[in-house]
Amino acid sequence: MPRGPSLTAEAVCFFRAIENARPEGERILEDPFAERLLPRAWRPWVRSPLMQLGLRGRLPVGPGALQGFVAARHRWIDDALGRFLDAGGEQVVILGAGYDSRALRFAERLAGRPIIEVDFPATQKKKQALLAARVPEVKSVATYLPIDFEHHTLEEGLLEGAEHHQFEPDKRTFFVWEGVAMYLHPDTVDQTLGAVHRLSGSGSELACDLWSAPAGTTIEARMRRIGARMLGTVGEPIRFALTPADAASFFEARGFRALEVCESEALAARYALGKRRLFPDNSVVHVVRV
Ligand SMILES: C[S@@+](CC[C@H](N)C(=O)[O-])C[C@H]1O[C@@H](n2cnc3c(N)ncnc32)[C@H](O)[C@@H]1O
Repeated sequence: MPRGPSLTAEAVCFFRAIENARPEGERILEDPFAERLLPRAWRPWVRSPLMQLGLRGRLPVGPGALQGFVAARHRWIDDALGRFLDAGGEQVVILGAGYDSRALRFAERLAGRPIIEVDFPATQKKKQALLAARVPEVKSVATYLPIDFEHHTLEEGLLEGAEHHQFEPDKRTFFVWEGVAMYLHPDTVDQTLGAVHRLSGSGSELACDLWSAPAGTTIEARMRRIGARMLGTVGEPIRFALTPADAASFFEARGFRALEVCESEALAARYALGKRRLFPDNSVVHVVRV
């Protein structure tokens, strides 16, 4: 069945727009394009006092903590990508790119190196329309590969669509896989990592985030599991979970060595100023292909 543009992609772009609207010096992340890339219905809420009030609470699992985590994971991946490019990496692939603006924000640092965005056709089409309408003065340097990971393999897409995008197998590649793995069936996660491993050169890197179901029978743990399940009501149910403790061995079994696994507390210590709490059920992982 054909599916529409991803709503979770709009939600995380909204969180980045909110972060960027914070006063200078209080931001985890600078993403000046996020607000402009938002579909119309979201935009008035970015600076709404009501929304600011809702996000201000310091509850460890509240909306403010989720918004902060989304901003911090993006910043953490930005930092890893920047180091990769500075060290001479050759190309970038963003898997499930949504409204990611790195092709705009990193255009200068990419200095002509390819950046390929892979996503659902519908999400990609909506993003391209928003880019043309809202950011006409900046030309995105991305090329696009529309696929559904559940129905087409990444390997086929990258190898067969070469006339439309600039991916070259065996090059030293940085794969961004942000906010995506948890929505895929475990077999698709395996298939995608297999393609990343087979198609990329030695020293290629992948940065992603992971969701792990909170354990226990406390009301809070149950509420958080129910909250995650509610994503199914917008057609994007969570299907894959991995704890930070299991991440290194999971990736090692698939041909990758973990460079860093970072839980939300460590992310908060690094980036979140003023005692902001970051949502605890997620972690970020940076691995290198061996
Ligand atoms: C939470 S959004 C994250 C978007 C972007 N990475 C970001 O951080 O802003 C999830 C993204 O994964 C994509 N996605 C989820 N399942 C997918 C699938 N089976 N095939 C292709 N893309 C998928 C959605 O279209 C969406 O862009």
